[in-house]
Amino acid sequence: MANDRDHFESYRAQTLAKHTILEKYIFAFFNVLKNANKNLVYIDGFAGRGFYTSETGERFDGSPIRALRAIASSDDLATRVSTILIEKDAALAKDLRESVAEFYKANPKMREPQVAQGTFASELTSALDSLDARGVRLAPTFLFVDPCGVAGASFEAIRRFMANDSCELLLFFNIDGVRRIVGLKEEMGTTLAELLGSQQRAAELVAAVAACPTPARKEECIVRFYDALIRKETGAAFVTMFRVENEERRVTSHYLIHVTKHAMGFRIMKDVMWDAGKSDEGMGGLALEQASLTDEPMLIRARWEGVKAHVEKELLAGPRRVSHFYETLVMEPSNRLCEKAYRRALLELEAEGKIVVLAKDRSGAVAAARRAGTLAKDYYVRRA
Ligand SMILES: C[S@@+](CC[C@H](N)C(=O)[O-])C[C@H]1O[C@@H](n2cnc3c(N)ncnc32)[C@H](O)[C@@H]1O
Repeated sequence: MANDRDHFESYRAQTLAKHTILEKYIFAFFNVLKNANKNLVYIDGFAGRGFYTSETGERFDGSPIRALRAIASSDDLATRVSTILIEKDAALAKDLRESVAEFYKANPKMREPQVAQGTFASELTSALDSLDARGVRLAPTFLFVDPCGVAGASFEAIRRFMANDSCELLLFFNIDGVRRIVGLKEEMGTTLAELLGSQQRAAELVAAVAACPTPARKEECIVRFYDALIRKETGAAFVTMFRVENEERRVTSHYLIHVTKHAMGFRIMKDVMWDAGKSDEGMGGLALEQASLTDEPMLIRARWEGVKAHVEKELLAGPRRVSHFYETLVMEPSNRLCEKAYRRALLELEAEGKIVVLAKDRSGAVAAARRAGTLAKDYYVRRA
């Protein structure tokens, strides 16, 4: 890409998936928090110009407008959520101001969005400094960090932000870019150190990647390094990685990484990401496959038969309430499945005669037809 401005000259399937995840999740996030909080905040750290144009000249909303639309769609959110949109490039920031002003004019009931021209790290840091100086705590905030490349996604700013209660992050993690920088070794500059929070961590990652024998292992090493780092430094137990494959080659383009300290947010985000995912098995998942793949990193995708085997294993000890799958298991930090995936696996196992669904009082079997083909959380299931 010649420069960041070119990013807005096409609207791709992966951009749509990213926007859909963002929009659906923040709507749920703010709705969960609105009753206990009069003030909520949305920050877009790499906001762009507010819109994309496709090759055919069609116009699509960018992340700031998608977020504002989700917020303005509910009176409760419109009056509670403050929005801060940060963009470094002066020309893009000017376009953004205009897009946002137009949106606000049509939605005057919402809090007026603030556009800041500057870098993500400096704007966020000065906002946090100013709150600290006044002894004010940051309201629950959703932060979207969406750089075009690797530069600018300051770990230190993210770490400081995540120290606040009920604050969550969605990060565009450009593994392709990280791989390239890691390969540069001595000449890699400060970009990797900024992404990881120190020169020492950057050197550790470079050494760890150099010791990996294959490209797939190198990718896994980078992802695990960042995953472990963000968990340790922010105290967030729940980190979800949504893998996006390159459009032409069978390699990962980037990950969308969601970071939260709350099991509920984790659970909701997995549902949202699952719907945006696409796999060669013809269903959702925590990945958007584009060039279709065979040589994937083992960390990321549970194959469908593996999911069903895992469900059957859970039933070895005896009958389970369906909520065990939909609620308990999906909230375990290492679990990469969501309610929808468990429902599908349970229904398929039932259709294959491998499990039986029991009444809510466990008195006897209840056929799928009597449940309108679905499976609510208060039924029980056991092996056939
Ligand atoms: C991928 S685009 C953002 C797209 C936007 N989030 C959307 O989905 O509509 C990245 C944007 O970040 C801007 N940018 C680059 N470095 C930045 C930095 N350090 N701080 C803030 N913005 C930056 C670029 O000018 C570009 O507009």
